[in-house]
Amino acid sequence: MTKGPVINHAELPLNTIIQGDGIDGMNALPEESVDLVFADPPYNLQLRGKLMRPDDSVVNGVSEDWDRFDTVDAYDLFTHDWLRAARRILKPDGSLWVMGSYHNIFRVGCVLQDQQFWIQNDVIWRKTNPMPNFRGTRFTNAHETLIWATKYENSRPTFNYNAMKMMNDGVQMRSDWTLPICTGRERLRKSNGDKAHPTQKPESVLHRVILSTSNPGDIVVDPFFGTGTTGAVAKKLGRNFIGFEMEKEYVIRAGRRIDRIKTAQGVGIDVTRSRRREPRIPFGTLIERGLINPGTQLFSSDGRHTARVRADGSVVTDTHEGSIHRVGADVQNVASCNGWTFWHFRTPQGLTQIDALRGLVHAEAGA
Ligand SMILES: C[S@@+](CC[C@H](N)C(=O)[O-])C[C@H]1O[C@@H](n2cnc3c(N)ncnc32)[C@H](O)[C@@H]1O
Repeated sequence: MTKGPVINHAELPLNTIIQGDGIDGMNALPEESVDLVFADPPYNLQLRGKLMRPDDSVVNGVSEDWDRFDTVDAYDLFTHDWLRAARRILKPDGSLWVMGSYHNIFRVGCVLQDQQFWIQNDVIWRKTNPMPNFRGTRFTNAHETLIWATKYENSRPTFNYNAMKMMNDGVQMRSDWTLPICTGRERLRKSNGDKAHPTQKPESVLHRVILSTSNPGDIVVDPFFGTGTTGAVAKKLGRNFIGFEMEKEYVIRAGRRIDRIKTAQGVGIDVTRSRRREPRIPFGTLIERGLINPGTQLFSSDGRHTARVRADGSVVTDTHEGSIHRVGADVQNVASCNGWTFWHFRTPQGLTQIDALRGLVHAEAGA
């Protein structure tokens, strides 16, 4: 993707919460100026009557005016307007995240696709501690959905793949996230003990969103800021945020909450880098740079296969010649092979993957 216009950060109201309409607020920001939009919009729950627990206590649902729309059409129009505003301010390679429940997420997904956003993933947030279905009339509603989308099919969004894998004990992170709802010390409460906000989201969900699809210093916008979960996590992770929220009380609570957050310093906000975002390094570069000499013998990890390096970066065996990948595949009689991890060179300590040499070149480039 081509890069958008160069934006001077000083033009943006970074790290502030603006009380007012999120659509107007986004419309006032420069075009293609932000890296990530995270939206947790009103769900339009349309709850009718009171919901009671078996002990006759009332369930605190979402009955606030901000969640009410007169008609489904009015909700769709609202969705259309905020998505269009978000699209305008997103950089070409930026990411949009929106979360919702079965009440609204399908409608949001439809509008989003109508506006040509390109869905990268839909993520199921499976709640470890969902509210039971008190009436026992249907399945416990135990998840919400997040949609991760980009402006274009060929956008190249930040995706810290290796960081997510690292968070998941070395196993590729999947699109189902099992995390608790916001309770305990994290839940903001009024002095009488009531929840300060009916739909405060857990920081753990935002941690994954922000860590996976943005970098330190990036700008994260949340047009429906509520009590500021997005801002709190953005600040913790060294990102900038801009929040819009209509309700004064939430703005004040969010501000107090974020003031207490400390940004992780130095290596604390670094993550395991993903190769996909690093410049491609051809095997031939290692030879040009003198990191591996023509004629060097390469080995598979079990020593069964060997090949010799040629001056142009190709490798040869008695029967095959070609790239490290092609020859790696051919000697094993398989369709494809990652030559970087298949081939090894001999060192006094034993066999070492040639990928380690590529790592040296990446490290030099980053230094
Ligand atoms: C689902 S809640 C977001 C909760 C938030 N993620 C949190 O963790 O606290 C939606 C919020 O959007 C706010 N809101 C609704 N319509 C809005 C609008 N047009 N502009 C700005 N805020 C709006 C509501 O007041 C509410 O706090």
